[in-house]
Amino acid sequence: MVNDSKLETISGNMVQKRKSFDGLPFWTVSIAGGLLLCWSLWRICFSGIDYRALAIEVRGFSSQWNSKIHRYDPNVTSVIQQNQNVSSAIEQNQTKENEMNGREEEPLYRSMDEWEESSDNFYADSDFSYTVGNTVKNWDAKRQQWLRAHPHIKNYTEGGRPRILVLTGSQPYPCKNPIGDHLILRTFKNKQDYCRIHGLDMFYNTILLNQKMASYWAKIPLIRTAMVAHPEAEWIWWLDSDAVITDMEFEHPLEKYKDFNFILHGWEKNVYEKRSWLGINAGVFLIRNCEWSMDFMERWSVMGPESPLYESFAKILSDVLPDRPVTESDDQSALVYLMIKEKKKWGGKIYIENEYYFQGFWLDIVGTFENISKRYEAMEAEHTELSRRYAEKSARLYAVKRERYLKEIWAGLFERRPFVTHFAGCQPCSGNHNPIYKAEDCQNGLQRSLDFADDQVLRIYGFRRQQLQSVLVNPIHFHP
Ligand SMILES: *[C@@H]1O[C@H](CO)[C@@H](O)[C@H](O)[C@H]1NC(C)=O
Ligand SMILES: *[C@@H]1O[C@H](CO)[C@@H](O)[C@H](O)[C@H]1NC(C)=O
Ligand SMILES: *[C@@H]1O[C@H](CO)[C@@H](O)[C@H](O)[C@H]1NC(C)=O
Ligand SMILES: *[C@@H]1O[C@H](CO)[C@@H](O)[C@H](O)[C@H]1NC(C)=O
Ligand SMILES: *[C@@H]1O[C@H](CO)[C@@H](O)[C@H](O)[C@H]1NC(C)=O
Repeated sequence: MVNDSKLETISGNMVQKRKSFDGLPFWTVSIAGGLLLCWSLWRICFSGIDYRALAIEVRGFSSQWNSKIHRYDPNVTSVIQQNQNVSSAIEQNQTKENEMNGREEEPLYRSMDEWEESSDNFYADSDFSYTVGNTVKNWDAKRQQWLRAHPHIKNYTEGGRPRILVLTGSQPYPCKNPIGDHLILRTFKNKQDYCRIHGLDMFYNTILLNQKMASYWAKIPLIRTAMVAHPEAEWIWWLDSDAVITDMEFEHPLEKYKDFNFILHGWEKNVYEKRSWLGINAGVFLIRNCEWSMDFMERWSVMGPESPLYESFAKILSDVLPDRPVTESDDQSALVYLMIKEKKKWGGKIYIENEYYFQGFWLDIVGTFENISKRYEAMEAEHTELSRRYAEKSARLYAVKRERYLKEIWAGLFERRPFVTHFAGCQPCSGNHNPIYKAEDCQNGLQRSLDFADDQVLRIYGFRRQQLQSVLVNPIHFHP
C-alpha cells in the first residue's frame, strides 16, 4: 500500500516548481494584456461604453494585437452553431442510409436485450478486461458495433456535440483538513452543475481501483475502465478534484480537436525544447475513447507504481527532464517523457492547448473574478439579448450569443472567464498544502472560485451573492 500522504506531500512540493514555471508565460503576456486593459478601461470610463467602436479601435491598435485577438479567440460560436446542426444531420444521414440499403435491411437487433444475449456481446468474453495490462483488442470496432446495436443511445449530445463523460473523484476516507470534506462537496457540486447545464454524464469515483496506483496515478486505471463502461462516450474529461470549472457556459472547442486523441494544457516549447516536466499539466485533460488511448495508457503506466520499472524511472525521468527533482516517478513527468522520447509514435495525436484556460493556475486567476464579473455585467447591460431570463436548458443558447460579443469586444484570455481554475499544490482534502502557499490563500481562493462559478448557476435561478465568499444572496433585477 503506497503511503498517500507521502505522495501528496511530494506532489505538493513538486507543485512549487510548477507554479513558477506555469506563471511565466502568463506574466509576459499579461503585462501586454494589462497595458491594453488599462487603456481599454480608460476608454470606457471617459468615453462611455461603445464596445463596437472600441473593438474596431483595438483591432487597429497594432497588427500584432490583431493576431493575438485571433489567437485567444477559440472561435467557438461557429463551432457551437455547426454542432447544433450536426445532430439533425446525423439523423438524416442514418435515415438516408437505411433507405439506400433497401427495405429488406432489418435492424441488427430487435432490442437491446437481443444484443446482450447474442454472441456479439463482447462484454461476455472471458478475456474482456477493465484493467490496465490487459488490452481490449479492436476496441474501436467493438465500440462501433455497440453503437450500432444500441441506436437509441447516442454518442453525441442533444446539441450534436460528441459525448463527453466527465470523470473525477476523491479519496475513500474522510478529509484530514477540517473544512476539506465541505470543500470537496462543493467541488463536486460545481462539476455536477456544469454537467446538468451541458447534458453530460459524470462518474465520481471514491475508491482506488488499483491499490498500487494511488494518488496521481489513480486516474489511469479509472479512465481505462470508464472507457469500456461507456462505449457511448467519445471523450473522457478527467478533472482533478481540486479543479473548479469557472465558466459554466463555455464548452471545449471539440471541432478543433477532431484529429487529436489527447488534449492537455501547456506549452509545446517547454515540453519539446526545454524538456520541462512542467511543460504540461496532467491534472486536467481530454482523452478520446479509442484504441490509441488504451495503448497510450498502457505505455504511460509502464512508468507507474505497478510496473517493475517504476523504481528505475525515478532516476530516468530526472535525467531526461532537467528541472525535475529526484523523487518517485510521477504521472506528469512520465507523460512529458513519453511525449519527448516517443514523439513520433504519440506526438501527432497530442494537442497542447494554451489559447484559453483549459486549466489555469489558481494564483494567476483568483484575483481577477470581480473585474471579470463587472465586464460580463457591462456586456449584459449593453446587449439586452444577454440580460434576459432563461430556463436552464436554454443556457447553451445564451452562451452562443455571448460568445459573439466576447469576440466582438476584446476577445482575449484576460477578458473571458477562465474555463478551469486548478488549485494545484493546495491539497484541500488533506490540508497538506505546499509550504510556499498559505493555507488561507488556498482556502479563500477555492471558495472564491466556487462562489464565482456558483453565481453563474444562481443567475439562472434569479439570485446572486452579495459578493464572493458571502452566503447572502440578492434577487437579480433583470433588464426588461
Ligand atoms: C471562425 O469560424 C468561421 C466559420 O466557420 C471561419 O470562417 C473562420 O475562419 C474562423 N476563424 C478563425 C480565426 O478560426
Ligand atoms: C444550421 O441550420 C440552419 C437551418 O437549417 C441554417 O440556417 C444554418 O445556416 C445552419 N448553421 C450552420 C452553422 O451550419
Ligand atoms: C452525411 O452524409 C454525407 C454524404 O454521404 C457526408 O458528406 C456528411 O459528412 C454526412 N454528415 C454527417 C453529419 O455524418
Ligand atoms: C459516433 O459514432 C460513429 C460510429 O463510430 C462515428 O462515425 C461518429 O463520428 C460518432 N459521432 C460523434 C459525434 O462523435
Ligand atoms: C480591477 O479593475 C480596477 C479598475 O476598475 C483596477 O484598479 C484593478 O487593478 C483591477 N484588478 C485586477 C486584479 O485586475
